[in-house]
Amino acid sequence: MKTIAFFDAKEYDKPSFEACGERYGLKFRYFETKLCEDTADLSAGCDGVCLFVNDVLSAPVIDKLTAHGITVAALRCAGYNNVDLQYAKNRLKLMRVPAYSPYAVAEHAMAMLLTSIRRTHKAYIRTRDFNFSLNRLEGFDLHGKTAGIVGTGKIGKVFIDICKGFGMKILAYDKFPGKEDYYVPLNELFEKSDVISLHCPLTEETYHIVNAESIARMKKGAVIINTSRGGLIDAEALLQGIKERKIGAACLDVYEEESDVFFRDVSGHILEDDTLALLISMPNVLVTSHQAYLTKEALENIAETTCKNLDSYFTEGTTPNEVAFSR
Ligand code: NAI
Repeated sequence: MKTIAFFDAKEYDKPSFEACGERYGLKFRYFETKLCEDTADLSAGCDGVCLFVNDVLSAPVIDKLTAHGITVAALRCAGYNNVDLQYAKNRLKLMRVPAYSPYAVAEHAMAMLLTSIRRTHKAYIRTRDFNFSLNRLEGFDLHGKTAGIVGTGKIGKVFIDICKGFGMKILAYDKFPGKEDYYVPLNELFEKSDVISLHCPLTEETYHIVNAESIARMKKGAVIINTSRGGLIDAEALLQGIKERKIGAACLDVYEEESDVFFRDVSGHILEDDTLALLISMPNVLVTSHQAYLTKEALENIAETTCKNLDSYFTEGTTPNEVAFSR
């Protein structure tokens, strides 16, 4: 039986990991805290670590883990921008869950879009208070509008299909475009789209891909959806775009500085992040806290692939779904 230190553990993680761990001979030691320099020593006595999006695998953390004899880190997510890849190389085996449910994320993106433009979140609050007025609930049809998709991998492709189902026109941009005729240069996508949805990974190239300059190119009233990674958007520039009435709405499931607040109940505390507080206060901004992946199907797939990854490593010495060390 191998023991895995499971960082940033949440209530909803445990049922699927317990069931799967039993099948694969893995025992999870759950820690609510995130992995960082201060908490890395909690892995003492464990054979591996299991991480999520806001756990930090920096050089000092890797040194602490390897000092405890840890040789493997299983990321229970797709993205790995939280890992110092260069330093991890030759020190730790890194595996991830490349896909667990593109439908979960793409459907959440559409849920946010519909909520935001049809004002159902406002209507819900009104009717609970027996306020049946329709004033300021006016939305717009998606049919006939143009959706601009940045990143046409697994999630982007599902989102494109969903948008087509709504009768939307599609424009797309990808670093490695396919053969479809919807691919256009990024600036053209920004200029012509009514709805812009981000589905590319966070890399040096995509950092702040939505910034003051790209916002200036956008149509007045453009809606921005980000279910990918917070660092894709310059939040200050977005806030400015909203204040200037340039941005029609923003649907944010991720936020660049999310790690201190997302996934936690901080109600009753003073929010230190003024930008996030201002964004949330805007009537046309919808924020969910990195929830897009959270479906029953995705949680089961995450647990299954993570346990299978660890089992392959411990029993066969192989590393399926290994994180690529060059990107
Ligand atoms: P994927 O790897 O299937 O697709 C990513 C696409 O982005 C690829 O087509 C790739 O060629 C493209 N790409 C890479 N660099 C680019 C660049 N510089 N400019 C434009 N496109 C570029 O990944 P998948 O599964 O579709 O996930 C997309 C992102 O969604 C992940 O990187 C992750 O950050 C995020 N995600 C968010 C979740 C949430 O709960 N909010 C859950 C799962 C993933």
